Amino acid sequence: MHRINEAASDSARARNLTHRLYRYPASMSPMITRALIEKYSNRGDLLLDPFCGGGTSAVEALGLGRKIICSDISPFACFITRAKATPLHNKNIEKFCDWIQKETVILEKYKPQNPIPLEVNGKQYAPLTYSTILKLIRDTENISNANTRRLAKIVVLNVARRSIDGRSKIIPYYLVSNVFKRVSQEVIADIRKCCNGARPDEHYFFERDSLKVINCDAKRLANRLSEFKNKIRLVVTSPPYPGVHVLYNRWQVHGRRETDLPFRLLGYNSSRAASFYTLGTRNSHEASENYQDQMGRVLSSIYELMAPGAVFAQVIAFPKNDGHHITEYERLMKNTGFKPLQPNLMKIQRSVPNRKWYTQIDKNKKQPIEHIFLNRKA
Ligand SMILES: C[S@@+](CC[C@H](N)C(=O)[O-])C[C@H]1O[C@@H](n2cnc3c(N)ncnc32)[C@H](O)[C@@H]1O
Repeated sequence: MHRINEAASDSARARNLTHRLYRYPASMSPMITRALIEKYSNRGDLLLDPFCGGGTSAVEALGLGRKIICSDISPFACFITRAKATPLHNKNIEKFCDWIQKETVILEKYKPQNPIPLEVNGKQYAPLTYSTILKLIRDTENISNANTRRLAKIVVLNVARRSIDGRSKIIPYYLVSNVFKRVSQEVIADIRKCCNGARPDEHYFFERDSLKVINCDAKRLANRLSEFKNKIRLVVTSPPYPGVHVLYNRWQVHGRRETDLPFRLLGYNSSRAASFYTLGTRNSHEASENYQDQMGRVLSSIYELMAPGAVFAQVIAFPKNDGHHITEYERLMKNTGFKPLQPNLMKIQRSVPNRKWYTQIDKNKKQPIEHIFLNRKA
């Protein structure tokens, strides 16, 4: 418990392993995740994260010699998790570096001929910058190996995010090459760090065959993963937060205009409303009931998959000073059959990272506070 407390008070940003490859909204602290995995599982154990988001649990579980099944309703989240935690062969890392070098040279002189604007809510933005980003994402298709291509797409996603998301002004196209250089240097440095100490002939982030990623609604996991019923030794996860709306699937352009660009850049269907990814409805009175109904079904599904006695560790943020959602959540856990560990609930005074959240009940939009819930399957 001491280690978990220590990890909870560590506010340092994670720089190790592959966490930096993409900063997913409301991601778990890698330090807390590591401490939970170390305390409640052993090497070789099979873990589950039903809301894997940006893959924090995958990276930490594999780094600690565990196996893990990661699932998320968002194909974007599954993509990021795979990119961060899939072993990469040495020769593919070299191919990736070659691609970066080639694109760096092209970008220095590149100016789009027939620029297309980025359309957001009927308004048009930055055609030259947007077209440069589209060209980069198209160029990733020249890479034949799927794992290498995924890494190249991660670079382009980061370039696009830094150029567009949350900026009062989108950066001009002639500066995209600088962003590209910076991002790719960071990605290459992180991959190389992870590969140190790997087998001499091959570079791996992690052991092969230790990661399974599926794009699935957590309510359906018990059906989808029926061969793993009663086999999961630890569930470590961070579900969508009750009463706190997070923008998992959108970026924001010029202040608060929302775009599904991150999905579109990866070629995913982006027609879903933001509430699809938050187990609730934004700005709705039914949101809380809707959340509890859906979460109740998620918990039953997870319960079936867990081995008797296995621990369910969750990191959840609640709006500040909001006892109601916490009590409701504890009731849901109890009704499903979970037994709290002692002490069950720890408060983490941590700001939710890369946060794009809105609380429904706190009109002053005070910062949500994270809590760790620790339960066991009876
Ligand atoms: C708090 S985030 C998880 C962040 C993750 N732990 C990390 O470190 O990056 C919650 C995730 O739940 C996913 N999600 C929401 N509703 C879901 C559902 N019904 N089934 C599965 N995943 C869902 C969202 O897409 C989002 O990625």
